[in-house]
Amino acid sequence: MKIAVVGTGYVGLVTGTCLAETGNQVICVDINEKKVKMMQDGQLPIYEPGLELLFHRNIKQERLHFTSNLAEAIAEAKIIFLALPTPPGGDGSADLSYVLGAAKDIAKLITDYKVIVTKSTVPVGTADKVTAVMNANTTIEFAVVSNPEFLREGVAVEDFMKPDRVVVGTKDERARKLMAELYAPYVRQGNPVIFMDERSSELTKYAANSFLATKISFMNEIANLCELVGADVDMVRRGIGADNRIGKRFLFSGIGYGGSCFPKDVQALAKSSEENKYNFRILNSVMEVNEIQKKVLVEKVKKYYKGDIKGKKFAMWGLAFKPETDDIREAPALYIIDELLAAGAEVSAFDPEAMKNVEALFGDKIKYAADQYEAIDGADALLIVTEWSLFRTPDFDQMDSLLKEKVIFDGRNLYDLDKMIDCGYYYNSIGRKEIK
Ligand code: UDX
Repeated sequence: MKIAVVGTGYVGLVTGTCLAETGNQVICVDINEKKVKMMQDGQLPIYEPGLELLFHRNIKQERLHFTSNLAEAIAEAKIIFLALPTPPGGDGSADLSYVLGAAKDIAKLITDYKVIVTKSTVPVGTADKVTAVMNANTTIEFAVVSNPEFLREGVAVEDFMKPDRVVVGTKDERARKLMAELYAPYVRQGNPVIFMDERSSELTKYAANSFLATKISFMNEIANLCELVGADVDMVRRGIGADNRIGKRFLFSGIGYGGSCFPKDVQALAKSSEENKYNFRILNSVMEVNEIQKKVLVEKVKKYYKGDIKGKKFAMWGLAFKPETDDIREAPALYIIDELLAAGAEVSAFDPEAMKNVEALFGDKIKYAADQYEAIDGADALLIVTEWSLFRTPDFDQMDSLLKEKVIFDGRNLYDLDKMIDCGYYYNSIGRKEIK
């Protein structure tokens, strides 16, 4: 099938590349000519495990193309994916100007039936708005489909190639058939393509992310309570996760959720509920808990040093909002760095992928170590901020010789409490006993 993908951000590139992988002819379009040139030269502008291989293979086999010319991109495409940014506007609701602008441009260019698919996370009612904009600018037949993405950064390729489900919102029979055909190779294990109306599909995306964020905030509150009552959140997590109705996944307490999706989507759903005169009480609490949780690690540090951390040197392991990504959007690390610097402390950080992005924000205000051990050299304490695999089994002997004091504040509960007792560390994690 011939496909166009408008927007080559994270979602657009993963979508375009993975659609080419099953034999479709895909052309990705972006207004950023420099970026287009870069991709035409075979350079992938984002970091995502597994994507590079597919990207190069499909370019080489001439199934994946790039252009900055919208007319050229959509001329032969049957299906046009819109993977454009929907940043939060000043009031928290999603800004649709890119999506609606593209719809208008596309409407003016089409000469035969097209399926326009919104892939970006868009508020309920967006498909209707896109339809209205298109109708105002063309008399050619088209269908607008809502097809939200559920990709997790770090495993996006796997999520696209073998999705738990694909949600397709459309009332157009022709579009439904085309979408079923397009996704058939991805759901061969029997996972469903769930067809529904556009509004339900749009809401599904927000509901999914908000529900997951709710799970996290709930567990973070349980963790805080565990510390007060002397329980261990890891035990409670295992105890409740074994119940199939609850499920094992997404129950890890930590220092709050971040990234480009959860904070934005929870806020947008709360906002759209408000606009519809509905007070979505749980969501407001989910956001409030997350804001508080981002502060937990720094508060533990300040409490340990009795409020005075001026001149102390802290090592930070992990900066990205989660492992296997260089993404630092809404990362708890940013808050932690700000707080430590404001209190007069020094920071020496290491992250396998996200250092460049943090450097662009903080410049020489903090130190960037070449590896995890250089980061702790001469540090008063270590803060664990992102659960990268290589931080899970460090060489504790080497650490002992580098750290000034054997003190760890762990925002991700990486280490076994008994191990920390054996190694003689002061170890303060989330929702577990403080090891002194
Ligand atoms: C998320 C959704 O999972 C995906 O379906 C959606 O389309 C985009 O948003 P992503 O933001 O890439 O994906 O990351 P995810 O792995 O879901 O983690 C989100 C945040 O929750 C991270 O900050 C992570 O640290 C936190 N988290 C996750 C927890 O604190 N505890 C958990 O148990 C799981």
